[in-house]
Amino acid sequence: MNFELKSLSLVEAASEKCDALLVLVSDAYKPAKDGFSALVGRAIKDGDALTKAGKILALYMPVQSQATRVVIAGVGDGSAKQVRSGVTAALAGVKSDKLKKLVVAFASPAQEATVRAAVAAVADASYSFISTKSKPEPRTLHHVLLAASNAAELQTPFDRAVAVVAGVELAKEWANRPANHATPTLLAKAAEALVTKHSKISCEVLGPKEVAKLGMGAFMAVAQGSDEPLRFIVLKYNGAAKSVAPTVLVGKGITFDSGGISIKPAAEMDEMKFDMCGAASVLGVFRTLAELRPDINVVGLIPACENLLNGRAVKPGDVVTSMSGQTIEILNTDAEGRLVLCDALTYAERFKPHAVVDIATLTGACVVALGNVRSALFSPDAALAKALSAAGDAAQDLCWQMPLDEEYGEGLKTQFADVANVAGRAGGAVSAAKYLQRFTDKKVPWAHLDIAGTAWKSGAAKGATGRPVGLLVEYLLAQAAQAN
Ligand code: BES
Ligand code: MN
Ligand code: ZN
Repeated sequence: MNFELKSLSLVEAASEKCDALLVLVSDAYKPAKDGFSALVGRAIKDGDALTKAGKILALYMPVQSQATRVVIAGVGDGSAKQVRSGVTAALAGVKSDKLKKLVVAFASPAQEATVRAAVAAVADASYSFISTKSKPEPRTLHHVLLAASNAAELQTPFDRAVAVVAGVELAKEWANRPANHATPTLLAKAAEALVTKHSKISCEVLGPKEVAKLGMGAFMAVAQGSDEPLRFIVLKYNGAAKSVAPTVLVGKGITFDSGGISIKPAAEMDEMKFDMCGAASVLGVFRTLAELRPDINVVGLIPACENLLNGRAVKPGDVVTSMSGQTIEILNTDAEGRLVLCDALTYAERFKPHAVVDIATLTGACVVALGNVRSALFSPDAALAKALSAAGDAAQDLCWQMPLDEEYGEGLKTQFADVANVAGRAGGAVSAAKYLQRFTDKKVPWAHLDIAGTAWKSGAAKGATGRPVGLLVEYLLAQAAQAN
């Protein structure tokens, strides 16, 4: 899908030949003198078109336009959020198999955030997962023209938004794939495919032998219940001098989470194919970095394996030794995400990072706490927490800071090891974060994003969202801007 940004007035946008023209009208819309603007103005004045976000009026081949279909779409106060819902509502009303060329016209001047919102909404609405269909129905939309009278000043945020779409769609693709089409080995191949001549990306993949040599006993304990071999993926994006400390992103890559011996109930267990959405978001971020090539260094770490159960599977009560040297009593084999992440967090130390951010579909408790609107953000570092929250706001990929008081970690105490992998049910998202915190270097800013509620949608619209690629890219680019 090609996106293009052009400086066009509304009447110029209306004279573009296309299958559909979306006219985004906010409460502040003042029609110009031309015939097309007068038509839009009249529809609003008569109350047939409304500027309220989500309200649409569809027209077929109006003489004032070269578009086959015109949709006048309300975008309310014109904020990024309302532009997003306006574009989504408008596209729901256009029959998608007829849609090859689309023009999205801002009737009033656009802003950075609204351009990004429009690009993201068009990509989301036209996304189609085809990898496992015998008669795939791929996206028909191949050309999207964004028209705004002030387009010239919006080229940079536009380019960024288009690059983020590429990352989001890579994350969706891998997250949506069923577990038998997204094994740890295949995930590693997807990471290796990001290495191209101009991408500034390198990739190293470790297997069971290398991981054993590193002493990643917690990661290995999860993987041992499956016949599918584990992979530890190390991605590097080098856009700055070697001396510049990298940001390390660690993505949970459980390609399927059955719960292990502490097996999950059957209902909705299929959704545990999404338990590698943290990993997918790291792949997505690297895809976007390859496109934008900012002056920063980023390392991506993905511990990838299945959480299954066979005769060798780890058992409740087993004690294993992590790479950090801490022993762990595995009281519940379904709390496997923290087991693979803790060894990856220890591995992260060797990069002497500027910051470490892990991203994981870690707890059902997080879904209970925050639902599917905001990801949970945990960080003992106020500056890092602030930067990530701000990035989430700017990218419309929201998160919410949660506490890390010492007391939340008390339930992890046990007589049989240095730490247990679970505490009680209460505050489950927080005790998981407290567990991870034990494996971080106190001198390096660390944050944990629990994306269990935000990384995918359940029900009829089941599918990966590509979150939090937008948040992470925004954060990394803000780092780049600060360094320059
Ligand atoms: N991958 C799950 C978390 C999850 C559950 C995400 C449901 C989204 C929806 C994780 O590995 C898990 O099973 N966590 C357990 C932890 C518990 C055993 C302490 C959970 O949340 O039930
Ligand atoms: Mn689990
Ligand atoms: Zn899991």
